[in-house]
Amino acid sequence: MVKVASFNAAVALALAGSAAAGRSSRLHNRQSSGSIMQSDYQNGAAAPGARQGDAAGQTVVINNNGGHDDNSQRAGCPTIFIGSAAVGGSFSSGWTDMPQVLGFDTMRDLTVGSNVVQPYIIERGKDAAQIKRVVITQPGLPRDYWKYANLVRNSLLCASANSSMGINRDEILIAAPTWFDTDDASAGSAQSNDLVFNGGAWATGVNSAGPNGEAISSFEALDDLVNKFFDKSTYPNVQQVVIAGHSLGGSFTQHYAMLRKSNSAQDGMMSFFVGNPGSYVWPISDRPIQNPGGNCGSSFDQWSYGLQSLPSYGNGQGGASSIASRYYGRTVMYALGLSDNEGGDSHCEAQYQGTSHLTRGQNFQRALQSANGGNVPSSQQFNYVANVAHEDYLIFSDPNSQHFLFAQGTNFAATASSSSAAASSTAARSSSKGSSAAAGSATGSGSSAAPTSSQTSSSGSSSGGASSLVTPAAAVSALLASSAALLAFVF
Ligand SMILES: *[C@@H]1O[C@H](CO)[C@@H](O)[C@H](O)[C@H]1NC(C)=O
Repeated sequence: MVKVASFNAAVALALAGSAAAGRSSRLHNRQSSGSIMQSDYQNGAAAPGARQGDAAGQTVVINNNGGHDDNSQRAGCPTIFIGSAAVGGSFSSGWTDMPQVLGFDTMRDLTVGSNVVQPYIIERGKDAAQIKRVVITQPGLPRDYWKYANLVRNSLLCASANSSMGINRDEILIAAPTWFDTDDASAGSAQSNDLVFNGGAWATGVNSAGPNGEAISSFEALDDLVNKFFDKSTYPNVQQVVIAGHSLGGSFTQHYAMLRKSNSAQDGMMSFFVGNPGSYVWPISDRPIQNPGGNCGSSFDQWSYGLQSLPSYGNGQGGASSIASRYYGRTVMYALGLSDNEGGDSHCEAQYQGTSHLTRGQNFQRALQSANGGNVPSSQQFNYVANVAHEDYLIFSDPNSQHFLFAQGTNFAATASSSSAAASSTAARSSSKGSSAAAGSATGSGSSAAPTSSQTSSSGSSSGGASSLVTPAAAVSALLASSAALLAFVF
């Protein structure tokens, strides 16, 4: 009912707009008051929060690409999509500048080690005292932090207009570390005392290349960033910090979730969103595929594909089995496109895990189940998203993903924009979260696109939330039904 009411309100606004003689001046008024509804904008309009110096490209995008190009709104979302910032340079030669991301500030107040700076960006204009939840986004392979902070911001706008999510976006803050490499230092975006890595080493937690010979893990820098948000003198009300990434950023997030040092004050308030990763740290030494070719029979279980030969960040954290059991207690969503058949990580070690993003994810689910008495750990869930390939925005803006990113585990204040009905939907969710149904292994789509029957369940991607969750028993029996077929396929 609430949903219907909010869509009616959007329709009413649109009708009022088109009926008015002075439409453009009315549009202008609404834009300056910060509307986030598509019906108040035209393609190319200035986005709310725009200011002088913002990088090009960050205007309102209204077109029919349905989110498939990572630069448009997905179907069903009535809110605007803000375009991604244009940036100088390239992934391979290094980025020449840090773009001014619309609605974000660039921060240089995070020092790691002696006089080493890890820059990050953070949403501007939110009241730190009101923040209950922080989502820290990770870039993809191109170290494009501006793109991912923006995608997750667009998804947050979308989720905040959906009253059944029961969230208040004023209480959610998006932040993103920049993760530079040595090419960025040569090209100009990284300053002389900024933390820099060799190539993609930021994504595996091995030590940095500098500055000035400093050897610091990205995981240590991220720990320090997380600590900022749990600092009660700045953020007295933070209940949850979510680390979120897609593709190499999804791998980063899974690597960090595996190896992050124990912190009893924070562990219950941390969660990890792993979207379509290219490969995983496998928690057990068994692999679904034997002898896939290549020449890595002695390294397929080494970090960052397995728990042997850990980077120095892992020193003192115990052996593989204790690290794995700690991981099983962490709160993780794996969001996997059912059409993501790309090969992903091309290293030999990754071929032991599966042949594509999707099959590696399915195999990882089976590995978790086999290591945990047949069930995915109750704090972890697989969200198989139908009709989505290696498509970042469609993964971040899927309603099940939005619930995990922005809602799960946080009690939001009732506000004017989130009605009392939205508050009751939050209550319904939290009660079902405690039940065995919500603790099940899979939310999912179960569309006919599924290549095996291991995805459990059913309801289409349009019905997110508690109602689409399946019982662990159903998940297990679906898995058992498919395992014979899987073995036949693998061997
Ligand atoms: C709104 O949220 C509900 C609950 O998660 C979900 O089922 C629905 O698809 C969402 N609507 C839109 C338009 O995203």
